[in-house]
Amino acid sequence: MVAALTPGSHQLVDWTAPDRYPEIFAAAAAAAPDARHILSFGCSTGEECVSLAQYFPKAEIVGAEINVLSLLKAMKKRSDRIRFVYSSDRILRRLGGFDVVFCMAVLRAPKKQQRLGNYPFALFEERALFLESLVRPGGLFVIHNSMYRFSVKRGKFAKVASLLHPGCHQGPNRTALNRYPEIFAAAAAASPDARRILSFGCSTGEECVTLADYFPRAQIVGAEINPVVLLKAMKNRSDRIRFVYASDRILKRLGGFDALFCMAVLRSAGHYPFEIYEERALFLETLVRPGGLLVIHNSPYRFGDAARKHSYETIPVDASRDIGSFLPDGVTEVEPDGSIFRKLST
Ligand SMILES: C[S@@+](CC[C@H](N)C(=O)[O-])C[C@H]1O[C@@H](n2cnc3c(N)ncnc32)[C@H](O)[C@@H]1O
Repeated sequence: MVAALTPGSHQLVDWTAPDRYPEIFAAAAAAAPDARHILSFGCSTGEECVSLAQYFPKAEIVGAEINVLSLLKAMKKRSDRIRFVYSSDRILRRLGGFDVVFCMAVLRAPKKQQRLGNYPFALFEERALFLESLVRPGGLFVIHNSMYRFSVKRGKFAKVASLLHPGCHQGPNRTALNRYPEIFAAAAAASPDARRILSFGCSTGEECVTLADYFPRAQIVGAEINPVVLLKAMKNRSDRIRFVYASDRILKRLGGFDALFCMAVLRSAGHYPFEIYEERALFLETLVRPGGLLVIHNSPYRFGDAARKHSYETIPVDASRDIGSFLPDGVTEVEPDGSIFRKLST
C-alpha cells in the first residue's frame, strides 16, 4: 500500500530473504574483494545488507529504500557497518562513488502490471543509468532479476570513454534539439548580434544546431571532451558549426566568445564538490569577452557563489531545472541565482 503511494517506486513487492543470491554475492565478492563502500538499492527490510556485510568483510554497507515502512523495519538491522537511508536521488548522489552497487529484483513490476505493459523500458533505463553513475570507475554494478537487459549496446563505448577521462564532469551525454527554448530565446534577445558562440559539453552536437538557428549571424563552436561523442557530433558540421576537442589549450586559443553555453555539464551523478564546479566555471568565464554572455544551466551550484560574481549581471529567464541548487557545502539547498550572466565591461 505504502509502496503503491510512493512516486518513484518500481517493484511494489517487498519480499526479501537472507543470502537470497549466493552465487551472485560470491562472484561479486571475488571480483571486488577490497570493496569498502557498497550500496544495496531497494534493500527492503535489510536482509540483503546483512548478507553483503558477510560477503564483503571490509565494507561499509548502505541500504537505500523508498518504502518508508520497509525502511523502518530495516533500521532494526543497523550496525557499525550497515546503515540505511531513504532512497532519494539527492542522498544517493551525495553518498555516491560506490565500489559495488547491488540492484536486485528492484527494476521490475509485479507480474500483472508486466502483462498490462505498465513497466516500459524507459522507466528501467532511467533508473539503471542513474544507478550506474553512482558506481566509481573500476567498481561493479550488479543488476539482477529485472525485466530488461542492462547491456544495451547504444552509448556503451561513449560511457566507457567518459568514465576513463579524468576531466569529465557529467558522464551521460543525453541531449536534444532545442532542449532549453526559454534560455536560448532569452540569450538571443540579450545578445542578438552575437557572432562567436561556444557550446561547452556539446555532446552529439544538437545544441550547436539549435544555437545556429537562434543566432543566425553566429559561428558556433561545439567543444566536447568525450572523443566517441565528439566523433558523432562531427556529423553535424556545417559552414557555421565546427567541433573541437575540449582541451583548455584549444579553448583558450578560440576564446573571446560573445556567448558561452554550458548546459547540463558541470555536474555529476556521484559526489561533485563545489571546487570542481568552481574551477571549470571560472575557466569558462575567462573565455567570455566583456559584454558577452555566460550561460550555465542545470548545475547543482550557483555561479554567483563562485569568485567573480561581481563582474556579472544576471539576465532573468524563467526556465525549469532538473537539479536543485546548493551552497558550496553541497548539502544546503538554496534558491538558484539564474542561468544567464552578462560579463560587465569594467
Ligand atoms: C548531459 S550532456 C549535455 C549536452 C548538452 N549541453 C545539453 O544540455 O543537451 C553533458 C556533456 O558534457 C560533456 N562533458 C563532461 N565534462 C566535460 C568537460 N570537462 N569538457 C567538455 N565536455 C564535457 C560530456 O561528455 C557530455 O557529452
